[in-house]
Amino acid sequence: MFSDIQACVFDAYGTLFDVHSAASQHSSMLGELEAPVSELWRSKQLQYTWLRSLMGNYVDFWTVTGQALDYALETHGIQNQELRNNLMNAYLQLECFDEVLSVLEILKNKELKTAVLSNGSPNMLNPVVENSGVSSFLDACISVDEAGIYKPKAEVYELACERLDVKPKEVCFLSSNCWDAIGASYFGFHVAWINRYKQQLDLMDATPEVEISDLTELPPLLEIEQ
Ligand code: LAC
Repeated sequence: MFSDIQACVFDAYGTLFDVHSAASQHSSMLGELEAPVSELWRSKQLQYTWLRSLMGNYVDFWTVTGQALDYALETHGIQNQELRNNLMNAYLQLECFDEVLSVLEILKNKELKTAVLSNGSPNMLNPVVENSGVSSFLDACISVDEAGIYKPKAEVYELACERLDVKPKEVCFLSSNCWDAIGASYFGFHVAWINRYKQQLDLMDATPEVEISDLTELPPLLEIEQ
């Protein structure tokens, strides 16, 4: 149980939005390469953020996402500019996971502050938050773009405290990305790792306090009665 929580802050990609729904929107074109392309796309996208942060060479997440997609398509021998454009556009219309809207509504009814804190650049985050209906339950949609560096840099998590006017220990941070959950714990948030993909915990100095399987477990964690 977390107590004295004033705000719930959510990672976006993989946590609220299903990144693999971009490739599944184009499954007829990708055929049996749908899953391998989608997995490699996501994995390179994240690797490039870490590399760029270490190199001090920030470009926005839309650019990173495009470069990662180009890598994945080339690896699998796909040369199709129209498919490439369609997959990028699909990123603006990702589906949210089934339970997301109903849980956000519960939090808002309890007058908790809510925000998205994401690597996504504003030009890609704002459309997906609008198109999915998530925006009506948010107080803020915060992009790392303001800090010019990617998660898990501490300055990025600090953005949420500044914007929502809360202390780290008043925040419940939720991410399905284990490395993000660890970074947020190290920063000082209360963290619930949403282990949607039944992965093993990464072994680092900080550990998320709680592991849940999806967001339906969040209201009980905050002692919200429904
Ligand atoms: C994000 C990535 C980490 O939304 O999924 O920030």
